[in-house]
Order: sequence, then structure tokens, then C-alpha cells
Amino acid sequence: VKPSVYVTRRVPLPGKEILATECNVTQWDQDDPVPRDELLRQVKGKDGIFCLLTEKIDEELILAAGPQLKVVGTMSVGYDHVDLAACKKHNIKVGFTPGVLTNAVAELTVALLLTTSRRLKEAMAEVVNGGWGTWKPLWLCGQGLDGATVGIVGLGRIGLTVGKCLKPFAVQKFLYSDAFENPGAAEIDAQRVPLDELLANSDFVLACCALTPETREMFNKDVFKKMKKNAIFINTSRGGVVQQDDLYDALKSGEIGAAGLDVTVPEPLPTNSPLLTLNNCVILPHIASATDKSRSSMSELTARNILAALNGEKMPTQVRID
Ligand code: GLV
Ligand code: GLV
Repeated sequence: VKPSVYVTRRVPLPGKEILATECNVTQWDQDDPVPRDELLRQVKGKDGIFCLLTEKIDEELILAAGPQLKVVGTMSVGYDHVDLAACKKHNIKVGFTPGVLTNAVAELTVALLLTTSRRLKEAMAEVVNGGWGTWKPLWLCGQGLDGATVGIVGLGRIGLTVGKCLKPFAVQKFLYSDAFENPGAAEIDAQRVPLDELLANSDFVLACCALTPETREMFNKDVFKKMKKNAIFINTSRGGVVQQDDLYDALKSGEIGAAGLDVTVPEPLPTNSPLLTLNNCVILPHIASATDKSRSSMSELTARNILAALNGEKMPTQVRID
């Protein structure tokens, strides 16, 4: 009898097609998330779960699935929504999708950086609202990257690729802070420094780290205070790494210059969020990996992870659980 897999959303085709070659696939065939109670009902008896970052994979869900559950594959590089300790306890393997979205996320990080530093949100609004009177030497001047120091907090695959993308913009210097040395840092001549030194010297501070107990709300009042007054803060990791009220205060009071966010708490960000009233804050709806190519590859890799685990083979990209 074929193993059974539950897919928690409508996803790009390759994933479902690959699973269907060897498994019985059932799916929440909608664009919006499956309600939690429906999810708990649907996973019952399944051998594998294909999920997204919107589904909390915790012990309650594992118990609802039952003891035959062998693998959870999340179609994301982040896995802060997965309780790894619970998965380990119940001997469940976890797959994720590093690598295939690196370029897409890096390019959106660069897009946010350029948008904020060159004030594109204000500039586009002026064209529409009649504020564009004439060419003015002092109007809408931003910082640009020429000669800038860029600080990358968390130099993994994504952070390093952002650095490589930015290098041709005449960036003067790359700094990074990370618990680990990244040998690839040499490719962008990035220097590993303590966080405080990065904050004090960077014109751009990029959050490219995973959300963990150590990074949760690490960008808080004290950290914004240590940044330069004109610093631009970019976050394409997880909203949870930021203390969002503190970010609002820092932007409002001029403690820092601007922010570009692809991720917030909560998601979606309520339309009455005070952050949306700020000209110097650009917010996108968590679209960093949203290219057709990247999402299709993520779907395929998620399916391959699940199939490998079900067949007792080495998963292409398994989350290591210590
Ligand atoms: C997106 O945020 C991801 O983790 O893939
Ligand atoms: C983080 O997951 C990265 O790829 O940098």
C-alpha cells in the first residue's frame, strides 16, 4: 500500500506531481491556509506532511497525525514554525528548502535596500500626487551605496549572496556578525566583527539570520540606538527578530534613517499598523522567494525530501536536529 501524504495548500505543480508518483496525496486545495482544526483532522493517519511556514508543526499536530508519521517537509528555508524537539521525540524527519530560493531572496533584499536608500516610495508617490513640480537639486536625495559600509547580521547562504549582489555597487566595506566564521566571506572581503562594532559602523544593517531563541527580538531599542543616525535597516528573515514597537520609535524619532521589511509580526500586518504611516518605512508582504522559478523549485525539493524519507533514503535537504 502506498504511503499517504497531506499537502496543506495549493502549491506549484512539480511537488504534487512528484509525490503522486509514489503516494496517495490529499490536499487543502486553496490559496488560503487550512484552518487548524481541519488540519488536525486531515493529518490523521498520514505518513508525510507537506507544509508551509504558516502551519505550526507542534506536538499536538504530531499526535493528531499518529505514530505512522515519518516526515514533515516544509516548503521554506525557515523552520521556526516547526518544533524540532517534538519531531525528534517522535522520530520524525524534517525537510526544508535551502539553496533554491537564495538568489530570489537576495535580489529582493537588494530591491528593498535600493528602495529605501533612494527613497523610491516617496518618489513614486510624488509623481502621482502632483508633488513633482520641477527638477530640484535638493529634492528626494538619498544615500546610495557608493562608498557605503554594509553590515550583514547572519552570513549564511542568503547573506553572502546579498553581499555578492551588492559588491558591484561600489560598496566600500562589508562587515558581518555571526556565531560562526563563514569561509565564503573572503569572496566579498567581509570582516567578521562583534555586533556592536557592526552596528556602530554600518550604513546598512541587513538581517539575514534565522529566527532562533538567540535572535528573537534582537533588533530592539538598544540595538537601534547603537546604529548610525542615518542607518538603513533591512529585514528579509523573520519579523520575530525585530522588536517592532522599538523599530517604530527609532524610525519616528530619527534614531535610524529608514527600514525595509519583507517580514513583520503579525503577518499579515494590520492595515492600521503605525509603521504604515511612516515615509521612511517600506513594507512588503513576505514575497522574498516569490519568483516562479524559486517557488517551483521549492515545491519540487519539498516533495523530494518527503519521498526520500518515506523510502528510507538520504533526504536532499534535511534539517539537522541536535
Ligand atoms: C520564507 O520565508 C522561507 O523561509 O522560505
Ligand atoms: C539562511 O537560511 C540562509 O540561507 O542564509
